[in-house]
Amino acid sequence: MQDVQEKLIIQSGKPLTGEVSISGAKNAVLKLMAASLLPNDICVIKNVPELSDVQIMIDVLSELGAVIDYDKEYGVLTIDSKNITGVVASDIFVSKMRASFVVLGPLVGRMHEACVAMPGGCRIGERRVDFHIKGLQALGCQCDIKDGYVYAVAKELKGAEICLDIPSVGATENIMMASVLANGTTVIQNAAQEPEIVDLANFLNTMGAKIEGAGTNQITITGVMQSDLHGVEHTTIPDRIEAGTYMSAVIATKGHAFIKNIYPNHLTIFTGKLLEMGAKIKLVEPHIMEVSSDERLEAMNFITQPYPGFPTDLQALAMTLLSTANGISVVTESLYENRFMHINELWRMGANIRQNNNHAIIKGVDFLVGTEVVCTDLRAGAALVIAGLMAKGESVVKSLHHIDRGYEKFTAKLRGLGADIMRVPIDFQLSETVDRENLQNVRG
Ligand code: EPU
Repeated sequence: MQDVQEKLIIQSGKPLTGEVSISGAKNAVLKLMAASLLPNDICVIKNVPELSDVQIMIDVLSELGAVIDYDKEYGVLTIDSKNITGVVASDIFVSKMRASFVVLGPLVGRMHEACVAMPGGCRIGERRVDFHIKGLQALGCQCDIKDGYVYAVAKELKGAEICLDIPSVGATENIMMASVLANGTTVIQNAAQEPEIVDLANFLNTMGAKIEGAGTNQITITGVMQSDLHGVEHTTIPDRIEAGTYMSAVIATKGHAFIKNIYPNHLTIFTGKLLEMGAKIKLVEPHIMEVSSDERLEAMNFITQPYPGFPTDLQALAMTLLSTANGISVVTESLYENRFMHINELWRMGANIRQNNNHAIIKGVDFLVGTEVVCTDLRAGAALVIAGLMAKGESVVKSLHHIDRGYEKFTAKLRGLGADIMRVPIDFQLSETVDRENLQNVRG
């Protein structure tokens, strides 16, 4: 799955039709996996997408002593944390995936110590972890940073009132998980309100934790004893960002399709913005959305914000749609300092986008032109594939390992909707003499 030596070849011109089913949420499942470290028992997580990030988290937990069975066919992870002995999450894993830093909270809670590699900055921004550390310190944990690792020790965690500077998703999760086993009550003010936080709190509560307020900006955690915690069986929520990606793909190609297994209330602002642009979106069943578009889209403006605001993870996708919309749009990225790397690639496809600090001004062009582009991060990668589906002619997208981190069976799902897209070895050349139909099976 994770092969940098492959590329996608995309031929445009086919409106996407049919139906696509959304997988479990990457950003929920990774945290559920970390939370499985807390009970001295077995947790079963269902609706787990097959992603390279999930594999990295399996490696992290295995290093700590968890015994894991992953049934990829049914998307079921069984995590046995009865024999957790390790407290070190090594740099080789944390450097591959920042999300593995969320093992810090549960490890400190259960083992009273942890040594977790500091996640470095990444291409989309600096992405510090100071709020995570300040939060744990407020709970009575001693945290030292040395040689690129956080050494955290706490004889006993004590409940505290913690007000986050900004509603950080990861800090909320780390503090919430550590507080489950703290002595007394913890209140997190200005907490992140993302649906993934609610899924994590539900998972922890089923396990025996006492958490109230998840999904609001104030979360209260009443500490319990480790013996109060037990194994749980839980189904991961659908991935709202994957859903937004397929909604964008259908709209980009003036298609008509049904997006299944969604929670529409997790997509409220994104759906509203697509409607504002002129797309047609109808909820036909509680978890099925009908999406279509037949007119040129209209320009619109948006600012990325923490949930329930416009998700930064859909910014590149929305910008791609706006690149051929009628009029001028202004996009403001307020979460990350460097999440506009796709602009250069879209430029190369003929888009007219000017960047001014964290603002992008997009003057819609009549059409994009297919060319060779490189994924710069996960969501930008998906956006470039959608750009390829919109553009005139053939596009080639490289550096697919970014996409493999967060989109399960991306090529196969797009092909299921009728897209002309192939995943082939990097040195593969289409020749006139090759029968294109036979190539459809080169890679799923
Ligand atoms: N921040 C700090 N200090 C901290 C924590 C965060 O300055 O201690 C800053 C970050 O640098 C960033 C902002 O606060 O600029 C928001 O960071 P947050 O902690 O909310 O994000 P995260 O937990 O690192 C998760 C998702 C991201 C998503 C963001 C925002 C996971 C694994 N990742 O990251 O998802 O963009 O929340 O919604 O849950 C993706 O899936 O492509 C992705 C990047």
